[in-house]
Amino acid sequence: MYVWMFPNGEAEKRKSIVMPTPTQLSSARLLPDTTTASQDGVMHIAGYSLIDLAQRHGTPLYIFDRATIINACQRYRKAFHDTYHASPVRIIYAAKAYLSPLIAQIMAEQGMGLDVVSGGELAVAHHAGFPMENVSFHGNNKTEDELHLALQLGVGRIVLDNWSELERLMRVAQETKKRPRVLLRVAPDVETDTHRYLQTGHAASKFGFPLSNGEAKVAIQAVLRSEHLQLIGLHAHTGTMLRETRPYEECLERLLDLAAEIYEEAGWWPEEISPGGGWGIETVDGADVPGVDVLAQALQKVMERSGADRAALPVPTLIIEPGRSIIARAGVALYRVGARKPTPGGITYLFVDGGMADNIRPALYGARYTALPVEQRATPEEEVCISGRYCESGDMLVERVVLPEMQDGDLLLLPTAGAYCLPMASNYNLVPRPAVILIDEQQVWQMERRETYTDLLMRYSEE
Ligand SMILES: Cc1ncc(COP(=O)(O)O)c(C=O)c1O
Repeated sequence: MYVWMFPNGEAEKRKSIVMPTPTQLSSARLLPDTTTASQDGVMHIAGYSLIDLAQRHGTPLYIFDRATIINACQRYRKAFHDTYHASPVRIIYAAKAYLSPLIAQIMAEQGMGLDVVSGGELAVAHHAGFPMENVSFHGNNKTEDELHLALQLGVGRIVLDNWSELERLMRVAQETKKRPRVLLRVAPDVETDTHRYLQTGHAASKFGFPLSNGEAKVAIQAVLRSEHLQLIGLHAHTGTMLRETRPYEECLERLLDLAAEIYEEAGWWPEEISPGGGWGIETVDGADVPGVDVLAQALQKVMERSGADRAALPVPTLIIEPGRSIIARAGVALYRVGARKPTPGGITYLFVDGGMADNIRPALYGARYTALPVEQRATPEEEVCISGRYCESGDMLVERVVLPEMQDGDLLLLPTAGAYCLPMASNYNLVPRPAVILIDEQQVWQMERRETYTDLLMRYSEE
């Protein structure tokens, strides 16, 4: 459900509810599934008043709705189960979007795999008891220590990104007498219609062995010659915030063509193949994002075509790696307004108690958010810039939004803050990081405790 829902759904009660403003309604497709408004116009998630949560846990507060995460996992599973029949499918959550031990546990319960990109993410997955055979270790510069840790923990797959990594992994595998299962990451030279910083599959990408100059093929042959590595598949990821299936289709076609060439020359055929993750989400610009069933259908067609060409060969298991489309809408950031500042230059700022250190995305690549008041009020509306507390003019969470006039102490909510905000959070200006909670109708879990000055001072202490 992407609409505002009302407690108990009783029509009579609805009549007396202060209705959301049009701005709020249009934002409703950005909110967690369990978002409701109480009769007095206070926003609730999973039945909890956001005013109460802010009072109990402080602000800034990141809130994740468990039901929305589970619904998103199930939507993926259902779409691929109902629509994709060409081969088995594995859906792997891209932990870089947001990871904590509790999130890893939800992913395990939902039968998802986990894509990690560092020893830290690996350690969290291990700590959470996530089944290591369902972990894929990605990244473009894995250290020798990280590779040792991955082999020691028994991760299911290592995705090789470049020649240095290939040599490093061969060395580590030889030393440890392990023979890891690897996929080779290919830069498939597929253009995507997304921000430059979110493109990853073009010829000049920092990620993967280039396809266009033949390097990917040479690398596959090198892995096949190694007695220390088992090559089980090919991987690519073209970009993120994608709203069309074309890059996935082109990418999968190119990987299958590459595999066919290798099969002709060396008799090797992939068990697994992945066009990566990157499916988009609804954003404030209102552009439509098709459901994941559209993606499943498109990939089914590509696999069917390729299967018809190569009938004697088994269709490889398809691996999909969504991050943002699983977690973004489940998370909201709750801030308290600290000041309202009109300027002679025409901009009225609302300063909140967080900002670029907990959400760098607007400053980093112009990500657009909106903001909503937690309490609906019949005050006049005004256009404001939601700016953070950090010492940078670029510290703007929302450059322009029309809101009812807000006072110091009012609460503001930033929807779709579940992906790529906290994982990129910093301690800029030595401000402690926010608290993070996970909620469902029965329980509130503290997912990350609010940092303290003692935490900050720890880094200056001698070991
Ligand atoms: C290899 C790989 N897989 C999956 C993802 C997840 O992308 P998204 O969160 O947009 O689905 C990324 C994101 O950068 C990635 O690099």
